[in-house]
Amino acid sequence: MESKLPNVGTTIFSVMSALAAEHQAINLSQGFPNFKVDGDLKDLVKKALDVEQVQYAPMPGRLDLREQIAQKLFMQHGVQVSPDTEITISAGATQGIYSAIAATINKGDEVILFDPAYDCYDPSIRLHGGIPVHLNLTFPEYRINWDELRTSINSKTKMIIVNNPHNPAGTVWSASDLKELENIFIDFPHLFLISDEVYEHLQYEGQHQSVLKSDILRSKAFVTYSFGKTFHVTGWKIGYTVAPPKLTAELRKMHQFNVFCVNNTMQWALAQYLKNESSWTGLSEFYKPKRDLFMRGMEQSKFKALICDGTYFCLYDYSAISKEPDVDFAKRMTREFGVAAIPVSVFYENKEDNKVIRFCFAKTDETLIQATKKLCKI
Ligand SMILES: Cc1ncc(COP(=O)(O)O)c(C=O)c1O
Repeated sequence: MESKLPNVGTTIFSVMSALAAEHQAINLSQGFPNFKVDGDLKDLVKKALDVEQVQYAPMPGRLDLREQIAQKLFMQHGVQVSPDTEITISAGATQGIYSAIAATINKGDEVILFDPAYDCYDPSIRLHGGIPVHLNLTFPEYRINWDELRTSINSKTKMIIVNNPHNPAGTVWSASDLKELENIFIDFPHLFLISDEVYEHLQYEGQHQSVLKSDILRSKAFVTYSFGKTFHVTGWKIGYTVAPPKLTAELRKMHQFNVFCVNNTMQWALAQYLKNESSWTGLSEFYKPKRDLFMRGMEQSKFKALICDGTYFCLYDYSAISKEPDVDFAKRMTREFGVAAIPVSVFYENKEDNKVIRFCFAKTDETLIQATKKLCKI
């Protein structure tokens, strides 16, 4: 049988996590927290079971959860979003992104994305006959080259995918970035947008510049979020997509034959949990000391820090230690020095190797201290 995705193999995340387990290394590779979930949220899940919330949820998601999300978005951005027609609960942001691409991309449509890019965009585009057009973020700033983006848009370009705060780069947008994108959508009104905002609460400098703040962008956008990232429950795979009614109607056509609906028990618990706004307001204050602890610990090492203004990842240049390709270096570091990280070339279509690796600092302070001690010995 001919493969639909001939170039897709086991992801580097699985490879590095397996290598970390094999060598009992500290795993700072894959992006997941190793600390406990909030006890209140756990109690709500238990309660959801006690009240038998175990059958199918409505196809677009529980209305009480969608109402809470609309309320949250209003508090965050002052925007009115209809729970009925503009919010769909998905199986993680991944399935929201997949459904948005499935709903819009036809054979031959071009989709512009920026490398280094999160790994689910490209294959989802290809599966629908689309053509991913990879532009590189500038190095070492990891910012969009807006002029290059403009000249890359043509009549076949159907969509642009952006990610802010950015994984793996750790960059965040300023208000002028949002304005640049808005100007592009004014000049090219045939375009659609996916704005991946799963790390919206993990921003350490300035305010999150959500696409929802711009009416022009919002009218063309699928904006995706993840409770996994926000509430340290990546294994639950629950997120949501915000899009205008017409786009949401098309997205739901994909969603209903893809999962139909998402885990009702967890949705019930999340709807209750969101009622307390402190469940999401203190997240950057929670993560910032972890970022600072890790970065301070690394100051005595031979690694050079790049940016870390958002997400729970930070990038480090290892060129003062080795000239090896980044994949080889990351594997050797795991085997010989006991810390696993992700080589950044894997996020590039052209495998650009700038001798940079990504560390995840969503870990207990103890783990971060142990890891930096090991990394300082390299
Ligand atoms: C940038 C980005 N988008 C989307 C996702 C997927 O989120 P979820 O686990 O909710 O599907 C991730 C997860 O790592 C991510 O880093």
